Amino acid sequence: MTRVLVTGGGGRLGRHVVAELLPHHDVTVLDHIAPEADVPSIVGSILDRDSIAPVFKGQDAVIHLAAHDADASDRVEEAGFIRTNVEGTFNVFDLAQQAGIKRFVHCSSVAALNISDENPPERLPISPDHPCRPSGAYGLSKKMGEAVAQRFAMTSDMEIVCLRPTLVVYDWVVHTLITTSATVDGPPLPAMPKKPEWHGYDEIIPGSRSWVSGVDAGRAFRAALEHPAPGFGPYFVAATDNHTHLPTLQLVEREFGSLPELHALERFSADPRASIYDVAPTTAALGWQPQERWADLITRVFGPDGLDDSRSLQELFP
Ligand SMILES: NC(=O)c1ccc[n+]([C@@H]2O[C@H](COP(=O)([O-])OP(=O)(O)OC[C@H]3O[C@@H](n4cnc5c(N)ncnc54)[C@H](O)[C@@H]3O)[C@@H](O)[C@H]2O)c1
Repeated sequence: MTRVLVTGGGGRLGRHVVAELLPHHDVTVLDHIAPEADVPSIVGSILDRDSIAPVFKGQDAVIHLAAHDADASDRVEEAGFIRTNVEGTFNVFDLAQQAGIKRFVHCSSVAALNISDENPPERLPISPDHPCRPSGAYGLSKKMGEAVAQRFAMTSDMEIVCLRPTLVVYDWVVHTLITTSATVDGPPLPAMPKKPEWHGYDEIIPGSRSWVSGVDAGRAFRAALEHPAPGFGPYFVAATDNHTHLPTLQLVEREFGSLPELHALERFSADPRASIYDVAPTTAALGWQPQERWADLITRVFGPDGLDDSRSLQELFP
C-alpha cells in the first residue's frame, strides 16, 4: 500500500486511474474540481504553489494528470496551455522533490509527437524515439512537460516514469468516434443523441485512428506506479488496434499519401488493424498490455447486435 497523490484525479482519465488504484493504494486527489469517487481530495490549483505544498507531505508517490487537455482549446488561450501544462507541471515536480516523493508518474501524450501532415510517421510502427514536432499549443505543452520530467529525472532522486497515452476512449465517446470512422466507409450506426460532453472529440482524432480505453489507460498508470524498476520511457499507452474497421496501412496511405518505411511487416500481416504505435517497449518495461480491442468497446456500448450491419462484429473489426 502506497500513499499516492493523483493530480487531475477528478478528470476523465483521472477517474479511471483513481478507480484502478483505490483497492490497492491510499489515494488522495488534487484537482480544481472535487472527484466523483469517494476518495480524500484537495480542491486546489497546481499553479498555486504555496497553498498546495502541504498536500505533498507524507505521500510516497505522485501521478500527475492535471492539465488542460486538447479539447480545452475553445476556452483556453495558447498561453494558458503553456502555463498550466508546463509551469504547473514544474510546480508539481518541484514540490514532489522537496517532499521526498520516491516515484513520480508523469502523463504526457502522443500529441507531443504531432503525427500529422506536419510530422508524418518516418517508419511504422512508431517507436518512442520518433521525432517530435508539435505545432499546436497543447502538443507543445506536452513536449515541454516531458522536458521538465527529464530534467527532474537527471537532478533528483525520484524514480520518474513518463507515459504517452494516445486518445483515451471512454464508453460514452465510442459513438462519436465510430460516426467519424463512418466517414472512411464505416458501418451504418443506430441513431443516438449526441451528448454535450462529447464536444471536441470529433476534432481531435489522432493520426491513423489510434486509441486506448480508459480502463486500460488506468491499468497502465498503476503498472508505472508499482513496477520495481520501470525506467523513464517515454512509453506509449495505446490499444493494439485502430478504431475503424479498416486495415491500418490503408488508413496511413489515405492520411499521408504514401507509406513510410515499414519495420516488422509481420505485425500488419498478422493483425491488419494493428496500432501505428509500438507498445512493445511499454510491455517490456512495465509488464502492461492493453486488453481491450475496438470490438470489445462496441459490444459494451451497443451490444453484440448493436450496429445496423449484416456483418458480425468479428467480420467488421477482426
Ligand atoms: N483524454 C485524452 O485522450 C488524453 C490523451 C493523452 C493524454 N492525456 C492527458 O491526460 C491527462 C488528463 O486528461 P483528461 O483527458 O482526463 O482531461 P480532463 O480535462 O478531463 O482532466 C484534467 C483534470 O485536470 C484538472 N486541472 C486542470 N488545470 C488544473 C490546475 N491548474 N490545478 C489543478 N487541477 C487542474 C481539471 O480540473 C481536470 O479534472 C492530461 O495530462 C492530458 O494531457 C489525455
